[in-house]
Amino acid sequence: MASSKPRRVRKDVADAAAKKDTVPGSPGSGAPTLAEPTTPRSPLPPKGEQGTPAPMTPTGASTGLPPTANGQQGDYLTASNGARLRDTDHSLKAGRRGPTLLQDHHLREKITHFDHERIPERVVHARGTGAHGTFTGYGTADGVTRAGFLAKGKETPVFVRFSTVLGSRGSADTVRDTRGFATKFYTDEGTFDLVGNNIPVFFIQDAIKFPDIIHAAKPHPDREIPQAQSAHDTFWDFVSLHTEAQHHTIWNMSDRGIPRSYRTMEGFGVHTFRLVNAAGDTTLVKFHWKPKLGVHSLDWEEAQMLAGLDPDFHRRDLYDAIESGAFPEYELGLQLFPDMPDETFGDIDLLDPTKFVPEELAPVQLVGRLVLDRTPTNFFAETEQVAFHLGNLVPGIDVTNDPLLQGRLFSYGDTQLTRLAGPNFAQIPINRPHVPVNDMLRDGFHQQAVHGGVAPYHPNSLDGGNPFEAGDDEQAFLDVPVTVAEAPKIRANPVSFDDHFSQVRLFWRSMSPVEKEHIVRAYTFELAKCYEQTIKERQLQCLANVDPELCEQVATGLGLPVPKPTKELTEETPSPVLSQIGREWPSDGRTIGIVVDTDAPDAGLGDVRAAVFAAGMVPLLIAAHGGTVGDLPVQRTFATARSVEFDAIILTGAPAPAPDAIPARDAKAGAKANGKANGKANGKAKGKAIDPRVLLLVEESWRHAKAVVAWGAGAAVLEATGMVGSPGVLVADSGEAALAELQRLLPAHRVWERFPATIS
Ligand code: HEM
Repeated sequence: MASSKPRRVRKDVADAAAKKDTVPGSPGSGAPTLAEPTTPRSPLPPKGEQGTPAPMTPTGASTGLPPTANGQQGDYLTASNGARLRDTDHSLKAGRRGPTLLQDHHLREKITHFDHERIPERVVHARGTGAHGTFTGYGTADGVTRAGFLAKGKETPVFVRFSTVLGSRGSADTVRDTRGFATKFYTDEGTFDLVGNNIPVFFIQDAIKFPDIIHAAKPHPDREIPQAQSAHDTFWDFVSLHTEAQHHTIWNMSDRGIPRSYRTMEGFGVHTFRLVNAAGDTTLVKFHWKPKLGVHSLDWEEAQMLAGLDPDFHRRDLYDAIESGAFPEYELGLQLFPDMPDETFGDIDLLDPTKFVPEELAPVQLVGRLVLDRTPTNFFAETEQVAFHLGNLVPGIDVTNDPLLQGRLFSYGDTQLTRLAGPNFAQIPINRPHVPVNDMLRDGFHQQAVHGGVAPYHPNSLDGGNPFEAGDDEQAFLDVPVTVAEAPKIRANPVSFDDHFSQVRLFWRSMSPVEKEHIVRAYTFELAKCYEQTIKERQLQCLANVDPELCEQVATGLGLPVPKPTKELTEETPSPVLSQIGREWPSDGRTIGIVVDTDAPDAGLGDVRAAVFAAGMVPLLIAAHGGTVGDLPVQRTFATARSVEFDAIILTGAPAPAPDAIPARDAKAGAKANGKANGKANGKAKGKAIDPRVLLLVEESWRHAKAVVAWGAGAAVLEATGMVGSPGVLVADSGEAALAELQRLLPAHRVWERFPATIS
């Protein structure tokens, strides 16, 4: 038995946990009364963990108002003109049984506004979730950039939006897809948007292909299926024909395509940018976000189950983590490269967005820390209306000629003209800069500012010459005067962009055996979902050019012949840092399911629950029925709990089948779970029947390589399932020791040794 001393936890998490012993997720900021309140009162404040855009004017002046100034005001219901209303439950009618009158302006306003509540969703990255936070510079980038927000100790407010790419706004969080990681820094020198993904390379090298890859990956235009999936013919048709997409695709097929949480995801700016320091020297750079909790992923079966059981899994995880004080944290890192005329590093073309630079060749240098500590107060106003734009640059950061980046510089501002209905989207509260804005842009739909003066042109004398152009001394943005080589005007890529396979092979060779196995299964699943055999065969040809074993395993699963490579299989040096396995990370914000026998609750239950809170994790009690066990609230019943919600299970009892178990179905599930139970069928261990849903919970946790720890009467569940002795399945002699075992197992994320991989 390992030491029962719990690991030390971060102080702010412990402090937050100490303040509350309730699980996150309460819907409102005050407890509701049973009867409808009737005494007029002002709006309730936002929940403690919620933030709003800072109250700035449309032109970037601080209003000095409290954040609640962004929301509704006053005790009484009003029309939009502020006039108080006496009735909003009945339309104005000619008599109690008569027709509704057109003059009912309140009815018309209420319904008209409702009719127009929706705006177009984003053409890509429609499904997303956001959080507010603070970025603090370390000062370690001072030598390479004059960007003020990276200065030592400088704190800058940020808003981050995480997203999937393919699905519609209402699609599930846990689908296999790239994740967006877009950060808006409200710096003292203007807003800087770092609009990245959780994958460091992209499908295409030139922005002109973006509509093609997205049309191929989105649902088929005739039937509009499948939703939020790449497992269909048009996607694989495109990527197998357009082989520059193979690199991004293998990352999608790896565990990176199904993150455990937005908190356990890296972020990448993808493109190479150009930094400028105070002396005007330039350095090429790639941006990285490093999550404090490490990179972890879901198991594919878990991801599929979650898409049905909890389609909001990543959203909920982000909000709950912030509410419970386990604030998501990331460090911003830079990979720096000398700004040479050929814009390459070794033999890697830095302008090719389908290539990355292994960290072993160019280490990531950490330059600041991001902490997300506020959830939005209003999803639409903040997460839906936030508008990112790659042209939001600040002095010290400039773009390069990466042809994908160049097209993006046009696309984002353009798409928002439609999505946010006009050119004034920068004036929406979440998009407002935190510095004075004097842009000479005028009028347009939804203009919020009341501009003075008569001369919105430059130069002028009628407004005293205002606004004035800034010089170097006034921190003006500098377009770096890069020399453009004399060249013909052509539609063509640099020759170095022609290598589409070497880094795909590098990625494959950097994976551990179990990760390789997952990649094989992902390709096999996705291609098996394609209808056309030619498309499968064409993709197998691409895999043959990556690695023979990968190709053979996928071909076997598809029942197709294994093609020979048509390209030389180069000897690529693996990049071990790409693997998720083999390191240990903090377990902040993990969810621990605690199974309780309400007929015989263990005396140590309360202490363990409190210790899980104190360790910065979230304990959820699972019992036969809702309500309380002693004075502890039950969060899940056997009917509502599924294993995928939990990172680990603690068994404190072996509950008998509850009255709501469905005998025929659940007995079968129990019998299956007991397949290895040495003849103790139907959930019976030592003569006692166990609720089959508890057995299913444990069996699924085992299948997904999660830690399962029991103590006291809980050990009977492990005996009944025949799991005792399996790696990561343990019986402890006290609640404290059980938690200590979990804390020993969780930092590796899963019990990887439970299922030895079949691939070398
Ligand atoms: C390195 C390649 C790319 C990355 C990392 C990337 C990343 C992102 C992210 C994170 C978002 C979601 C922003 C949000 O949360 O609001 C987004 C949206 C979008 N992206 Fe990209 N993207 C890439 C390439 C492109 C290209 C090449 C184009 C077009 C030429 C493009 C067009 C768009 C559009 C139109 C949106 C929707 C924006 C909105 O409606 O607010 N992206 N992209």
